[in-house]
Amino acid sequence: MGAFGRNHARVYQQLQQAGSVRLVGVVDPDTARADAIAREFGCKSFGSVEQMLTTHSEVQAASVAVPTVLHREVARALMEAGVDVLIEKPVAATLGEADELLRVALEHKRVAQVGHLERFNPAVRATLPLINRPMFFEVHRLSVFSPRALDVDVVLDLMIHDLDVVLTFVKSEVKEIRAVGLPILSGKVDIANVRIEFESGCVANFTASRVSTERVRKLRFFQAGQYISVDYARQDVLVCSVGSAVGAAHSFATDANEWGTRPSVNPQIQMAKPPITAEEPLLAEIKAFLRSVRDRSRPAVSLEDGRKALELGLAILAEIGRHAGRIAVGKG
Ligand SMILES: NC(=O)c1ccc[n+]([C@@H]2O[C@H](COP(=O)([O-])OP(=O)(O)OC[C@H]3O[C@@H](n4cnc5c(N)ncnc54)[C@H](O)[C@@H]3O)[C@@H](O)[C@H]2O)c1
Repeated sequence: MGAFGRNHARVYQQLQQAGSVRLVGVVDPDTARADAIAREFGCKSFGSVEQMLTTHSEVQAASVAVPTVLHREVARALMEAGVDVLIEKPVAATLGEADELLRVALEHKRVAQVGHLERFNPAVRATLPLINRPMFFEVHRLSVFSPRALDVDVVLDLMIHDLDVVLTFVKSEVKEIRAVGLPILSGKVDIANVRIEFESGCVANFTASRVSTERVRKLRFFQAGQYISVDYARQDVLVCSVGSAVGAAHSFATDANEWGTRPSVNPQIQMAKPPITAEEPLLAEIKAFLRSVRDRSRPAVSLEDGRKALELGLAILAEIGRHAGRIAVGKG
């Protein structure tokens, strides 16, 4: 029931009012905090998962919003007790822990979804059908400093959202990673810039910061004849398409020499905003989780998806470490 767990409780209570679920209780070893939130949302409070399960064996589903380093321990205990889980992102702190969660979910036949929230952002959902063959991404996720989620670096805390979205859009293996990152306020990497090249040739630049003076959450990309700009925060998508007459001239040529050899004409740029129905991403995420719990279907964001994003995040952190090492060597 930390900063984000409270949001989960709020959404479950909202769904309870709609009659689709019963919010049994909230858990936190900080019992004063658990009590306060239980009062706020009209449910019971518990000091541990074990305490909750002893008194309420009917619990079928739970959100796990503990610090990342505790995801494995808490999600494992729930799944072993027969409870389906929505595990906050990143799925775990290490690949070994993620693999353990995959094994436990399989063994106990549990639905386990990972909280990659932006997948449920209406702007991202409206962009998915527009994806053709993206070749270049520019992604920014900047937030102001707050002393939370400091158990992990900014790559696993914030950039992981964009890594998951770009992996979903690109569907190609990672070929090369270049990365730089610096600790500024927390002792872990607080700001990072990453360039990823995919086997498809697509290049994605990511910048994530938790020590910014402004809040920005934007993803922009180019594909044949199109520039698409996604503003996660405003739930807004802008599509700029080159008109059909000039579209051919701007489409991707298989022979690189063809670039620039075609006549340039006045580009006919059409701007469009796909219709988007605003919805709180967390509400959409929890509704999708509960649908999977009811019909025993594969969750929209699987443990495998969570592991893939984590694997990329950890590879980026290793590259940041190598870059830091090179700088130190240079200084010496
Ligand atoms: N999807 C998103 O956009 C998003 C946003 C913020 C945080 N998160 C994720 O949510 C998780 C929690 O983040 P936060 O910012 O709320 O952290 P937080 O530190 O504010 O809260 C964590 C809470 O977990 C409690 N806790 C510790 N051990 C526990 C246990 N064994 N059982 C039950 N509760 C326990 C702590 O007392 C604390 O209240 C992290 O994994 C984070 O990455 C996701």
